[in-house]
Amino acid sequence: MSTPIRFYHQGAVREVANVATTQTVLQHLRGDLHCSGTKEGCAEGDCGACTVVIGSLVGGRLELKAVNSCIQLTPTLDGKALFSVEDLQQADGALHPVQQAMVECHGSQCGFCTPGFVMSLWGMYLEQEGRAERQPSRRRIDDALSGNLCRCTGYKPIIEAARRMGELPAVGFDRDALAARLRPLQRDTLATYSHGGRRFHAPRTIDELVQLRAAHPDACLLAGSTDVGLRVTKQLRDLGDIIYLGQVDALRGVAEAGGMLEIGAGVTLEDAYAALCRHYPEQLSEMRQRFASLPIRNAGTLGGNVANGSPIGDSMPWMIALGSEVVLRGAQGERSLALEDFYLGYQKKDLRPGEFVRAVRVPLPRGGVQFRTYKLAKRFDQDISAVCAAFAFSFDGGRVAQARIAFGGMAATPKRAARTEALLLGQPWSEAVLAEAMAMLAQDYAPLSDMRASSGYRMKAAQNLLRRFWFETRPDAPLPAAALNAFAAPA
Ligand SMILES: Cc1cc2nc3c(=O)[nH]c(=O)nc-3n(C[C@H](O)[C@H](O)[C@H](O)COP(=O)(O)OP(=O)(O)OC[C@H]3O[C@@H](n4cnc5c(N)ncnc54)[C@H](O)[C@@H]3O)c2cc1C
Ligand code: FES
Ligand code: FES
Repeated sequence: MSTPIRFYHQGAVREVANVATTQTVLQHLRGDLHCSGTKEGCAEGDCGACTVVIGSLVGGRLELKAVNSCIQLTPTLDGKALFSVEDLQQADGALHPVQQAMVECHGSQCGFCTPGFVMSLWGMYLEQEGRAERQPSRRRIDDALSGNLCRCTGYKPIIEAARRMGELPAVGFDRDALAARLRPLQRDTLATYSHGGRRFHAPRTIDELVQLRAAHPDACLLAGSTDVGLRVTKQLRDLGDIIYLGQVDALRGVAEAGGMLEIGAGVTLEDAYAALCRHYPEQLSEMRQRFASLPIRNAGTLGGNVANGSPIGDSMPWMIALGSEVVLRGAQGERSLALEDFYLGYQKKDLRPGEFVRAVRVPLPRGGVQFRTYKLAKRFDQDISAVCAAFAFSFDGGRVAQARIAFGGMAATPKRAARTEALLLGQPWSEAVLAEAMAMLAQDYAPLSDMRASSGYRMKAAQNLLRRFWFETRPDAPLPAAALNAFAAPA
């Protein structure tokens, strides 16, 4: 039996029973709900023309987040609220301050990108509501707009609009009313939506998830859909049956125990990096800001990043360098392993049939460990790395007592530099030893050439990133990380 998808939209609860399990929210908005204000640019999460705001209750608390509707699947809306640009106009027909500011500052020309910018700005406006300071900082504006591309207007008038909107008479948003509308839509147990011979299972508890996974080991696990969504929109793949993790609240926890920060597999990238930046502010703030864009981080999960295990994914190098673990759960129980041991080969993981990633565990800062991670990509934000490096060293009397080095973009998996690490152990952290270590990296890696970078570039860049780490940590005159890495968490 199929359970219809229920969600809140434009003051009413919509019930949907006749769309494909892989229909995107954008297709539903434009095709079925006739809300054509939201546009399709790239259909892969890159341009932001399709940005909407989703309201959901997470552990009973209302969250409102901007996401890319082009890669979210309609059945994931169950129990949530969907807002698009049509929802901003006021009851008396007046424009919302976000829209009014865009008009006053000349923030739109062709307008194709405009609905997406407006929704990203509205997401920030909602966040800003709870703050004493109504004017967002430039850092916050840049972050909120990091997933929106405009090729006509240019960004200056849009940034001015982001500042201006806080100066206009405020329009409040009734969060309590929305939470009250959403509460009756929440389900306590597994719901399965079926269409065209395909099933979309949405378990609510870990036990339900374990049983489903054991019964359907080949079903596609879906978390934030920022990788899986593209298999639908770009590769036109049939996903088969889907098991959605996004309704399992028990996967959304962050907790400290035994010197580790445990992050549930369903925690969004934005929330996970926020928690991580509280412990590693100097080292991870830049990575947080440069990881994709805010709408992608609002949807995607750290668990999905790890489980997908792309060789150019950004989280794995630093997690491996720090000695993180992945926690796997299946019908036989739970096991954990060092993250580097999880990756067996290109797109091959030590994940047994019926298992899923339940959480990751990241060591909390330990005295004496020097840790840095660096991302090299062609653009500042919304770009995947050509090379990503991470180093975690400790020293004893000027000698290397522990060296953990991991790279992304240098091999078929995120991988440690075992030979270079061995060479460094016990050696003085001197420029001469650094030169040997840089040369040794060529024994650890044989990177590929692709559209992001050539093999030669990757090797040179990797060697120079090790040099940069040396500059920041050399015993005689270390440069503070802040001098080279001038990022603080967004204000
Ligand atoms: C525009 C854009 C920009 C991006 N930029 C970056 C970037 O800068 N850096 C970067 O590293 N990545 C980037 N990505 C990739 C992507 O955002 C990440 O890999 C993301 O973390 C995946 O998480 P998700 O929750 O969306 O996973 P999904 O897409 O839902 O799933 C990804 C894969 O993991 C599996 N999976 C998910 N959760 C689990 C689990 N708990 N157990 C077992 N398997 C699971 C799924 O079956 C699937 O195979 C970008 C993607 C887009 C679209
Ligand atoms: S259409 Fe480009 S991000 Fe969705
Ligand atoms: S106004 Fe034309 S792309 Fe932004």
